[in-house]
Amino acid sequence: MEEVIRIKGQKLLEGTIHISGSKNLCVALIPASILARDVVVIHNIPPISDVYSLVEILEQLGICVEYHQDTLIIDSSNVKYHDLDMPAMERLRASYYFYSVLLGMYHKVTASGIGGCRLGERPIDLHIKAFEQLGTKFQKQENKYIFDGENLHAGHIIFDKISVGATINAILLAIQIKGKTIIENAATEPEITELCKFLSKMGATIEGLGTDCIVIKGGKTLHGTTFYNIPDRIEVGTYALIGAATAKNLIIKNVIKEHIQALLDLFDILEVDYSIKENELQVRKSKIKKGIIVLTAPYPGFPTDLQQPLTSFLAVNEGTSVIIESIYTNRFAHIKELNEMGANINVTNMNIIIHGVKELRGLVVNGKDLRGAASLVIAGLIAKGETVVRGLEYINRGYENMIKKLRKVHANIELCIEDFGDN
Ligand code: EPU
Repeated sequence: MEEVIRIKGQKLLEGTIHISGSKNLCVALIPASILARDVVVIHNIPPISDVYSLVEILEQLGICVEYHQDTLIIDSSNVKYHDLDMPAMERLRASYYFYSVLLGMYHKVTASGIGGCRLGERPIDLHIKAFEQLGTKFQKQENKYIFDGENLHAGHIIFDKISVGATINAILLAIQIKGKTIIENAATEPEITELCKFLSKMGATIEGLGTDCIVIKGGKTLHGTTFYNIPDRIEVGTYALIGAATAKNLIIKNVIKEHIQALLDLFDILEVDYSIKENELQVRKSKIKKGIIVLTAPYPGFPTDLQQPLTSFLAVNEGTSVIIESIYTNRFAHIKELNEMGANINVTNMNIIIHGVKELRGLVVNGKDLRGAASLVIAGLIAKGETVVRGLEYINRGYENMIKKLRKVHANIELCIEDFGDN
């Protein structure tokens, strides 16, 4: 038996959706909070399964955690070292932020693997090189990563590729080391800037926020603080695309305009009917008459995390569009499912070529990763007839109450239990 999402498509949506706190920021804030060895309060934490996995890891490290409504209270005054070999480490990728945190605190870390969606190759060489630049000795023994931080020192890191995770891990280690560390070619995602603000509130000295050169004067004693997580810009984008595909009028609240500028630029080119004021975005179903070429790129470029939702939206456009997926070598699991629903999409050399079709038809489809599963929900809302989306566990990793939020705006969508006889 399996929980699935059942959707009867082609319903005009109308109403308000409130955006939850950012997944990709909170998965960094939670490990970083330990550095205070004190009480840290973080508001606007979404109840998604990645958060519960991180809380499980905190508890194994002897940390007291309370989670009420959307507020997480983390008391790490009694934190103790534990090898990072818990099963929860393998449920998400961001668990590797514990590497840098514990390495700086205890000068050693033994870890087993990390998890995360399968999107093609996702090495961690840039993280390891950054740690090495800061004096870490690294070895891999069978399936274990062993980091020796007995001789940590400040340093100069120049990334040869932009990486969100490696930038965050470099920051989390550097702020614990006495002296000045410079990080060049850093990623500039808003989640990184916000993490730096959080660390600064805890007492760290970090300059260059929002730029690709971050300068850290490390070794300060950190202390507890209170912080408010930002709205999830990828959740905004997902619902904005749903609105552009299916809504009479969808009002999306808790939006930071600057964080979704790349999507708004695309909406402008496609002449999507939307308006934005203060922190509210309104989107209406729009007849798109032309194709577009989109390149996914690090922030402020068009986010790879919206590539899959955008593919579903463009699948029923007039014209031919191309999305060049420049970040991941294999973030295409949704394409086969969309084609089975009647889309006409080819992938060659990381280029997704979408020939718009008149309509999609409902089917049983398999979500195989977080944003891919969300893109199939979008396809189900667009499609004629009934769609069943499998892979709900992926959606629950990153979207708070997607079914409830969509029902509130009159989508014909429900959670069902089905037996497919294959699990
Ligand atoms: N890369 C390397 N070596 C490394 C690290 C990364 O070659 O050591 C490569 C990756 O394989 C990829 C590129 O660099 O081709 C960028 O990866 P990055 O490290 O920036 O990604 P990440 O930190 O693993 C975060 C988000 C992802 C989002 C990417 C890109 C979190 C927890 N995850 O991943 O979010 O796609 O940045 O913006 O912050 C999602 O939310 O669905 C998601 C996958």
